[in-house]
Amino acid sequence: MTLLALYPLLYSVLTITYNPLSSFTFPPPSAAKVCMLQNSFQPGFVAKGDYIIGGIFPIHYNQEMPDLNSTYRPLPVKCNGFDPRAFRWAQTMRLAVEEINQSTDLLPNHTLGYKIFDSCAYPLTGQRAALAVLNGLNEANSPMCSGASRLLAVIGESGSALSMVLSRILQPFRIPMISYFSSCACLSDRRKFPTFFRVIPSDDYQVKAIAQLLVRFNWTWVGVVRGDREYGRSAVEGLLRELKGTKVCVAYQAIIPLLYNHQKTLQIIQVMRSSSAKVVVLFSSEGEMKPFLRDYMMQNITGIQWVASEAWVTASVFTGSEYYPYLGGTIGFGIRKGHISRLSDYLQTINPHTYTNDLMFPPCSGQESLLEQHSAYMNTSSPRVAYNVYKAVYAIAHSLHNLLLCQPGSGPFQNNSCAQINNIQPWQLQYYLQEVTFNIGGEEVNFDLKGDSVPYYDIINWQRGTSGNTEFVNVGLFDGTKSAGEELVIQEDRIMWVPVSVCSASCHPGSRKAVRLREPVCCFDCVPCDSGKISNQTNSIECTFCPEDFWSNKDRTACIPKKVEFLTYDALGIALTVTSVVGACLTIAVFTVFFCHRNTAIVRVNNSELSYFILFALTLCFLCALVFIGEPTSWSCMLRHTAFSITFSLCFSCILGKTLVVLAAFTATRPGDNIMKWLGPKQQRVIIFSSTLVQVVICTAWLIDAPPFPSRNTQYERSKIILECSVGSSLAFWCVLGYIGLQACLCFILAFLARKLPGNFNEAKFITFSMLIFCAVWLAFIPAYISSPGKYADAVESFAILASSFGLLFCMFAPKCYIILLKPEKNTKQHLMGKENK
Ligand code: TRP
Repeated sequence: MTLLALYPLLYSVLTITYNPLSSFTFPPPSAAKVCMLQNSFQPGFVAKGDYIIGGIFPIHYNQEMPDLNSTYRPLPVKCNGFDPRAFRWAQTMRLAVEEINQSTDLLPNHTLGYKIFDSCAYPLTGQRAALAVLNGLNEANSPMCSGASRLLAVIGESGSALSMVLSRILQPFRIPMISYFSSCACLSDRRKFPTFFRVIPSDDYQVKAIAQLLVRFNWTWVGVVRGDREYGRSAVEGLLRELKGTKVCVAYQAIIPLLYNHQKTLQIIQVMRSSSAKVVVLFSSEGEMKPFLRDYMMQNITGIQWVASEAWVTASVFTGSEYYPYLGGTIGFGIRKGHISRLSDYLQTINPHTYTNDLMFPPCSGQESLLEQHSAYMNTSSPRVAYNVYKAVYAIAHSLHNLLLCQPGSGPFQNNSCAQINNIQPWQLQYYLQEVTFNIGGEEVNFDLKGDSVPYYDIINWQRGTSGNTEFVNVGLFDGTKSAGEELVIQEDRIMWVPVSVCSASCHPGSRKAVRLREPVCCFDCVPCDSGKISNQTNSIECTFCPEDFWSNKDRTACIPKKVEFLTYDALGIALTVTSVVGACLTIAVFTVFFCHRNTAIVRVNNSELSYFILFALTLCFLCALVFIGEPTSWSCMLRHTAFSITFSLCFSCILGKTLVVLAAFTATRPGDNIMKWLGPKQQRVIIFSSTLVQVVICTAWLIDAPPFPSRNTQYERSKIILECSVGSSLAFWCVLGYIGLQACLCFILAFLARKLPGNFNEAKFITFSMLIFCAVWLAFIPAYISSPGKYADAVESFAILASSFGLLFCMFAPKCYIILLKPEKNTKQHLMGKENK
């Protein structure tokens, strides 16, 4: 398609846009001779030159739509709301062109001209501006009427949505455009926007930077608010993509409506107020924000940490002290700033009287003080967007310069040709634009294959200035050219305050995260680790098991060696030791008493030899309890049950013998009866030893076949290693106990039979008692033993031994000792036999 063939189409676009009625009367090709503009649209600023570049700026931020009832030609759209900031950008473009025209190095002998239009920050008016920039100023001047356009490139637009409109209109003519503020990542698509260049980084980098910032400050619970345009939509999409896989969650998303709507704004504010997310990321321009912010301030919400996008992070409209309570502390990524030395002076030369075009300055007289009235206009200390405009103009100038330097025969175009100096095609300039690199203020400017520029941002924090105003303080940078992880540099000490914004506070070591059902992953509960498991990091996802022989500490933060437990000489051990020694001593004392009074009636009547045996066995019984104290070794384990069972067997054998004798003595009618013959001292010894021998045999078999051995019990209580004696063979263990039990029962039965036999001192009665105590103790022992953990089982067993030994000692010997020591007058044969005079 040639350029000329497209012009009728272009005119028809104008027609369609502004006069729907006439849009169907497509001008026939012959009508091209009658050249007629359907509508006129005056530029803001024009300057003649050899090469013309266009500029489109949103010099007004509001518009009044005419009545579009399709019955008459609609009036032009009225633009309201003068934007001094954008006006400054436009002036910067003019300054740059003037500088280049004065320069002797750049484009010597050639001049640049410009046509600058106001887009009114609205797609429809932006489209009109785009068409106007393509057209001549009037019919006589129109390229359609007088030849090809000399327009080589366009600088514009500000907002991404408008840049898309502009790019689509310029595409058919292959006119390159350079945007100074459109950052939408969508514009990087070379297939959709082949002629688009920009001197601002793509938002792909900005969202990466914001995601890293959120992670850095541990802001894991954030709200996201955006304007309802391409810019906000694509940026939020990018941010969500970047946040995926990080620890940051989005608490809510809200869209500020394109047309102000009080109800919807209040809804958004309500969401912000009720959410626990204290950090809100906002992608929007200052124009979209203003009405929203008015309601926001009216609702008096504070405590929100704003994360600003590049579009408003340096918006000087919000620097007034009334904004500070609501926006103070805001942090965000700002476009790289630069220095334009002549800008401040240049801006002050602008005066409405110099321009005949009254559209631009209707309410001005020319006497106003710029510094006071339009601080946004005069704020030239650190131009960012204006500097982008400046760079864009220089990029075009440098490309053009390179194009003009082309040596015929070695040019980049077909057959190594160069562009014709007096008929440069815009696409030829685009070729040079793509290749250009130059240095401006120490900064390298070039475009990558997608037309994007170097990703670099300043981190800006809003802090209170001396006069209560907001100051934009530089607190770091993001350099997208650095390797991953090194891009973000923050000087945290310069940041005013950093709040906490999390859904759930982090889980301390010793606990783990438990995700809540149907809630984002950032909202979780902290569950303490189970016993035996630990987590040693904050926000652990899992608690890990401790290795064998290790157990968790009280806080569940570390594994410590398990406590080894056995009955030692602690309070319990000492008590048992003392009791057993006391018991043994008492027994020896009784023995001494008996031995000293061996000639008295009570000792002699009661079979002194057997008594000595019993006392001996009891001493051993008491001492048996000691084997249960101390760390179990293979020797002590073997000794424990065997020693105890043999001594008890011995004891019971003696008691059994004694009871038998008592029973026999009294049942025999005459002295010298047969029974007594069979129970002489020799026979008694045989009985005693043989019944003890049975126990010895059982024990020997036990020790040979499956002796008890020390073992580590980790099952009973998993947090401890219990050192205990494993019985080896439980059959043997219960046989041994069973045998003692059997002996005890026999004793009990015999003693029970003998309890009513005559005589003042009937020993059988006491034996019955002692057996009752013994049985009671051991019956109580079984459940206590089974249910006692670890060292307490040993303690219970030795306690049972001691208790039953004391039982036997007291029941059988206390009454006799009482008579021997305190009632010697009763210690006579007559008294004992009950044959005393009544
Ligand atoms: N970077 C923004 C963009 O690409 C800046 C911007 C300028 C903007 N004007 C706007 C954003 C208007 C939203 C609305 O669009």
